[in-house]
Amino acid sequence: MTREGVLTVLGIETSCDETAAAVVRRHAGGADGLRGEILSNAVFSQIREHAPYGGVVPEIAARAHVEHLDGLIARALADAHLDFDDLDAIAATAGPGLVGGVIVGLMTAKGIALARGLPLVAVNHLEGHALTARLTDGTPFPYLLLLVSGGHSQLLVVEGVGRYRRLGTTIDDAVGEAFDKVAKLMGLGFPGGPAVERTAADGDPARFPLPRPLYGKPGCDFSFSGLKTAVRQLVEAQGELDDQLRADIAASFQATVADVLADRVRHAMEMAGLPEGARRLVVAGGVASNRTLRARLESVAAEKGFDFIVPPARLCTDNGAMIAWAGAERLALGLTDGLDVSPLARWPLDPTAQAARGAGVKA
Ligand code: KG4
Ligand code: ZN
Repeated sequence: MTREGVLTVLGIETSCDETAAAVVRRHAGGADGLRGEILSNAVFSQIREHAPYGGVVPEIAARAHVEHLDGLIARALADAHLDFDDLDAIAATAGPGLVGGVIVGLMTAKGIALARGLPLVAVNHLEGHALTARLTDGTPFPYLLLLVSGGHSQLLVVEGVGRYRRLGTTIDDAVGEAFDKVAKLMGLGFPGGPAVERTAADGDPARFPLPRPLYGKPGCDFSFSGLKTAVRQLVEAQGELDDQLRADIAASFQATVADVLADRVRHAMEMAGLPEGARRLVVAGGVASNRTLRARLESVAAEKGFDFIVPPARLCTDNGAMIAWAGAERLALGLTDGLDVSPLARWPLDPTAQAARGAGVKA
């Protein structure tokens, strides 16, 4: 530790289509309690590389990470006005994700750790999302977490670093995936989430009633594939789409997702068993940057007497700061990894959770 209670960590993220590096400081203890400081946060989005294919192409992603990562690390250090010698550790995403990309980031981190004699922290990408609210808001454990991204839709109780209790997950598609597929079938381009949100802004959310899978059912699992199919059938039934029709379909889809998330979160709040002083809802992952969904979840939190914490949009989508932060949290507990640590394509936060039933289940 450079100073008492202060840890400075470089974080590397390469698990999907963002190449990212950031330097974060974790200040602990003292009168202020836990405090995070982002010294730099360099992100290269590969959107243009993947856009012609309408989705992320793993091989292209891995090559782009190789091309851009060194430059981003140099930039992250320069922006932070620091050198490798000023760091306490190197953290990198070790999974879950596209394994070709994960290998690029993790091997780079191992090389730096070895060359500079620094500890290595292998970070679970989902833990990066899960702990971001502690970086931005110093949120204490425990809290209820809605994790909504391109690959995951989960409700978890976050009990501590590395300690997660999964209450529900998707039994088919992830919510971000549903946004991406709906955008694709309406010709809104890639990535889908922001495009659907923009298009929906001018639409009537009540024009097309759509199915709300698992709505009102016990538990808090999710299902989005039936909704996606209903949108496809609706689009096909319309023939040519004009701007108004597109906007109304996007708005109706988004409102339906909001209904489903609100219902599942309400159930999770009851199932979580959080004590009076720990009634907190944190929303994380790329989909958490959607303003309509945020507003809806905020009102559920207010109705149920929960505090509502959602990081700013740029820290909800994939970034290096969340990996650096999760690395700092682990380092503070002495949780470092050997240079033999392996990249993982699948890495559930709660390995004890029962497998969800259904086809195409995501961990
Ligand atoms: O967390 P993230 O950046 O990457 C993963 O770990 O998956 O999440 C990406 C997902 C994509 O499916 C993207 O379409 C979705 O988050 N997303 C959104 C919005 N911004 C990103 N979904 C809905 N509304 C948005 N504004
Ligand atoms: Zn992510």
